[in-house]
Amino acid sequence: AKAIVFTEDPSLPAPKVIKLHQATENRGVRVKINGWVHRFRAQKGMVFMVLRDGSGFLQCLLTGDLANAYTTQTLTLESTISIYGVINPVLEGQTAPGGHELIADFYQVYGLAPAGEDAITNKVQENADPSLLLDQRHLTLRGETLSAVMKVRASLLRSFRKFYDENHVTEVTPPCMVQTQVEGGSTLFGFDYYGEKAYLTQSSQLYLETCVPALGDVYCIQESFRAERSHTRRHLSEYTHIEAELGFLDFDQFLSHIEDVICSSVDSVLADPIAGPLVKQLNPNFVAPARPFMRMAYADAIEWLKEHNIPNEEGKPFQFGDDIAEAAERKMTDMINKPILLTRFPLEIKSFYMKKCHDDPRVTESVDVLMPNVGEIVGGSMRIDNLDELIAGFEREGIKTDPYYWFLDLRKYGTFPHGGYGLGTERILAWLCDRFTVRECSLYPRFSGRCKP
Ligand code: 4AD
Repeated sequence: AKAIVFTEDPSLPAPKVIKLHQATENRGVRVKINGWVHRFRAQKGMVFMVLRDGSGFLQCLLTGDLANAYTTQTLTLESTISIYGVINPVLEGQTAPGGHELIADFYQVYGLAPAGEDAITNKVQENADPSLLLDQRHLTLRGETLSAVMKVRASLLRSFRKFYDENHVTEVTPPCMVQTQVEGGSTLFGFDYYGEKAYLTQSSQLYLETCVPALGDVYCIQESFRAERSHTRRHLSEYTHIEAELGFLDFDQFLSHIEDVICSSVDSVLADPIAGPLVKQLNPNFVAPARPFMRMAYADAIEWLKEHNIPNEEGKPFQFGDDIAEAAERKMTDMINKPILLTRFPLEIKSFYMKKCHDDPRVTESVDVLMPNVGEIVGGSMRIDNLDELIAGFEREGIKTDPYYWFLDLRKYGTFPHGGYGLGTERILAWLCDRFTVRECSLYPRFSGRCKP
């Protein structure tokens, strides 16, 4: 049999080159679209193909010579093609992405993907071992779930920036290479900095604090690094940290700000024409949280945990002073099943910089925001603004103050009441997109044993 080939019909009008997000407004005219073959099904001399270009999906219909040609019969998933044709609404009762399909009249192959053993379907099998899938992250990213999470992520970051912008909080970009710790020496990544000891930043908090007298309220969206040794659902070695530092406010105003930034950002994502429907797809039961969040003091959480027979890390009943570790925290959050502002943690289990409560010096003006299914997504506090008290905090934690001279200077040159917080982007996404682990919310997750691709 003669191999069927096809050519472009020269009598057709020149196509308009579009991206898939422009498909709806370009129905009815001849278009050209570049993309990847996402799905492919041949049936009774017709080919149904779903094309993906990153900005959307489009069902394409090939018939006649176009469908029967050798090139089409041997076309593979993930091949790049340029396809030509006219987009029409699908018939009533039929479904397709965007409610339309392209009736193709021609296509060209730009890059043919492998068939057989190297075919994409052998590289990324849905139920494969997670570590094998992570080895192929560059390919799994192309899947509908991961790419949807990444789009929601982009929208979320944009929404945070929008909130800060509207509230006169200025963006800064603190350094990632530092010589100070913020959240404990045990999770520091150290490295040799031209012969000096340096670390990858755990948090930009101290730098943000220095910016407030210069720029007013500030925020940053910056990678933070933690050498977390244990593998959990919510710990990464590198994560995108959204941090803000605000001047001249009290603890209550601080807590309200945290509610506002979370609720406004989530509302913006849901209202986003691209990300909103993706959240629905990933997390059909999601309802935006209502303000005010439940507020619960640490001491009351300890009572709650005791009443519900949830034990501490050693398997014993909780006592005031115990750290509420991941397992217990998650149990409590899941049972309460709504956002919680957990406040007033004891001095000893928190960081050196946290301000004491006026009415109870055992506890601090500190807060963790807990979300169902994830637990802590935000950690923050009011800061000690008295120099001597801050030095005592360093001493309590056994931290030498010399490398912090610039941070201490803040309490000398016009000290001021202030507070700030850090929010884990991957954690809020795990909650918003209903993902089992933060690893699904990071582009190329890093954790112990994984630094590739
Ligand atoms: O509670 P953390 O350690 O607080 C700080 O770093 C403060 N200095 C922030 C500040 O006040 N500016 O971390 C803040 C948040 C956590 O609530 C969590 O969402 C996230 O950062 N986080 C992590 N996310 C992923 N992997 C890890 N290993 C994380 N460690 C903290």
